[in-house]
Order: sequence, then C-alpha cells, then structure tokens
Amino acid sequence: MAEYRIAEIPGDGIGVEVTKQARKALEAAAEGFGFAYDVTSYDLGGTRYLSTGEVLADSTMEELRGHDAIMLGAIGLPAVPPGVLERGLLLKLRFAFDQYVNLRPVKLFDGVPTPIVGLTPDRCDFVVVRENTEGPYVGIGGSARTGTPHEVATQNSINTRFGVERVMVDAFSRAERRDKKVTVCHKTNVLTHAGDLWMRTAEAVATEFPDVEWDYVHVDAACLYMVNSPERFDVMVTDNLFGDIVTDLGAAIQGGMGLAASGNINPGGGAPSMFEPVHGSAPDIAGQGLANPVAAVLSVAMLLDDLGEADAARAVEAAAVSVLPELGAMAGPDMGMSTDQIGDVIAGRVVS
Ligand code: NAD
Ligand code: IPM
Ligand code: MN
Repeated sequence: MAEYRIAEIPGDGIGVEVTKQARKALEAAAEGFGFAYDVTSYDLGGTRYLSTGEVLADSTMEELRGHDAIMLGAIGLPAVPPGVLERGLLLKLRFAFDQYVNLRPVKLFDGVPTPIVGLTPDRCDFVVVRENTEGPYVGIGGSARTGTPHEVATQNSINTRFGVERVMVDAFSRAERRDKKVTVCHKTNVLTHAGDLWMRTAEAVATEFPDVEWDYVHVDAACLYMVNSPERFDVMVTDNLFGDIVTDLGAAIQGGMGLAASGNINPGGGAPSMFEPVHGSAPDIAGQGLANPVAAVLSVAMLLDDLGEADAARAVEAAAVSVLPELGAMAGPDMGMSTDQIGDVIAGRVVS
C-alpha cells in the first residue's frame, strides 16, 4: 500500500477553517482508494509570529522538505505588517522548493452562477501556468531617503532565460495533453526588455511542440478576453505578477474565491510541491463559518494527482463540485451551509 508523508500548514483566518475540510476529503479518499498517509501539522503563520516572533525556521524548512507534498490554507493577519509572512513564509517556500509552476485552473462548473451573463461551462475551461520564482516577486530593489519628499523606491522584475524557458516548456507540454493551445500573456509593448525575452523564448520552445498552436495577448487585453471570450484560452502562460492578478479575476469568473484551487509545483520532484486555494486568510469573514472550502478541497484533488493517485483525485474533485449547485451562494451567510457542513457533505461523497 502506498504511504504518503503530507505536511499541513493551516495558517491563519479561514486558512485554518478550510484546511480542516480539505483534511476530511483526504481521509475519505484514503479510505476509499486504499492508500495510507501521515499528516504532520505545522503551526506557522501570523498567530505563531505574533506569539513567538518566528516566521519560518531553517530547521522547519528542512522538515517540510522531507514530505511528499504540502497542503497550505492561507497566511496573513491584519496585525502583521504586509510582507512579513507573505515573503517570509509563502514565497520563501515557493522559492526554496523551486516550485516554479503555479498551476491555477479557471473552470466554470455546472450549476455555478458566474457574474458573466450568458457564460456557459463549455466556454470556460483553461489553466494558467504562472511563473512562480521570478518577476518582481524576487525581492530585488530598495529604497532611499525614506520619509522625505525625495524618497525613492525600486522593485526590479527578474526574468532569466532559464526561468522563462522551463515554465514555457511546462506550458507547452501541458497544452499537448489538453487542447493543444498556448497563449503567452505579457506586456511586451511596454516591458520591452522582459517582453522580448519572453517572446523569443516562446518562439524557440514552440518549435519543439509542432502539435501545439500558440498566440500572444497583452495582459490588459487578456483580462478583457477572460471575461468576454474565455473559450480562446487553453493554457495561458504568464509572469509571476500578471499570473497573480489574472487568477483572482479567474476566480471571480468561476463564481468566487472559494472555488479557485492551485498547485505550486516542482515538476522535477526534487522538493515537495505545495497545494493551496488561490484565496488568502480573508480576515473579513474569518471565524464565522462563512468560507467556502471547495477551493481547498479541489487543491487536495490536485495534490492527489501529483502523488499519482489519479482516481482518488477525480473522486475528490467530483465530490467537491457536486455540492456547488446545492449552495445558495458561493460564499457567506447565504451559502445555506457552514464551512464545516460543506466539508462533511463533500467528504461523505468521496466514493471509489
Ligand atoms: P483574500 O483572498 O483573503 O480575500 C479577498 C475577498 O475574498 C474577501 O472579501 C474574502 O472574504 C473573500 N474570500 C476569500 N476566500 C474566500 C472563501 N474561501 N470563501 C468565501 N469568501 C472568500 O484576499 P485579501 O483580503 O487581499 O488578503 C487577506 C490576507 O491574506 C492578506 O494578508 C494577504 O496577504 C493574504 N493572502 C494570503 C494568501 C496565501 O496564503 N496563499 C493568498 C492571498 C492573500
Ligand atoms: C497568491 C497570493 C500570494 C501571491 C501572496 C500572499 C504572496 O496573493 O497566492 O495568489 O502574490 O502569490
Ligand atoms: Mn493572489
């Protein structure tokens, strides 16, 4: 029997609430599909930081590295200055474990109301391959004369041939297994240095994938097309920051933040991949049972897929999606069920 070592970082706010539901689905999948697993829970995030001053110790990082996969809820607390946890924990893990593909499906599920009038599920099913280790996220830059009228701040976007090429190869290979279309999304008309590197890399990689057609859209137009003609996308590959932004739009199109799943993937398997909902800790609704846990459960499905448990992954996904048409709303007090109740219903439907 396969046995997996899974690390869990519930984090803060609704991260804790939705991870609990994800765990129920994982347990049901293990029972139904006959694999064993062991979860080590790591108390990291804002609450931990405020009480101990610790964000992520090197020793903890090495422990995490020893797992087959990581489940993350969300981190972030209003009382913690911006960046401390986001950079010190989340980005640190993405970078250290070289999770260079941030895979974010944008899929409209049957029976889910989308704010886009007239949009139907057959027209919206694509994945965003977000570069996850470079761009402005690297943290290179600085500030001087801070607090004076002459203050200056820089935040450099780092784009390497190596980094762009590997994410491009991932996007084209993914497209080969899907509808064979890649859309490169950037801002080559303004960010000419980085844009040129992205375009030339795309052209070179495309020659290795003759079955895959590809095109290019500027990121501003991509936002327009995601809303009015999402059927034009199959695999969208984009820069770290653009990918962050367009996938919140993708979540809204899908019906809400509580539906958008993601995987921070190390395709070579040299370090664990990390699965998390696209959303954050949502301090505005935390602690009230108002969070939709479907995104967290769908992230478990992605985790199972990554571990090679494809049947279990499909079952978890189907169970999560099955509950959506039964919710009064996709988030908040009008869902008709609490976060916990939704988690129970989903787990009860994970069948082999
Ligand atoms: P957010 O995603 O937490 O919330 C945005 C909006 O979506 C809020 O109105 C929230 O109530 C709603 N929402 C989010 N998830 C929901 C769910 N599952 N069900 C129902 N509604 C949901 O983004 P934010 O408010 O910009 O950020 C809050 C904190 O989370 C910040 O500290 C931010 O840095 C952090 N953050 C962390 C992660 C992560 O850990 N992966 C991701 C994004 C933001
Ligand atoms: C996300 C989040 C993170 C990001 C933050 C919290 C660092 O917004 O996962 O989308 O920008 O990648
Ligand atoms: Mn984001």
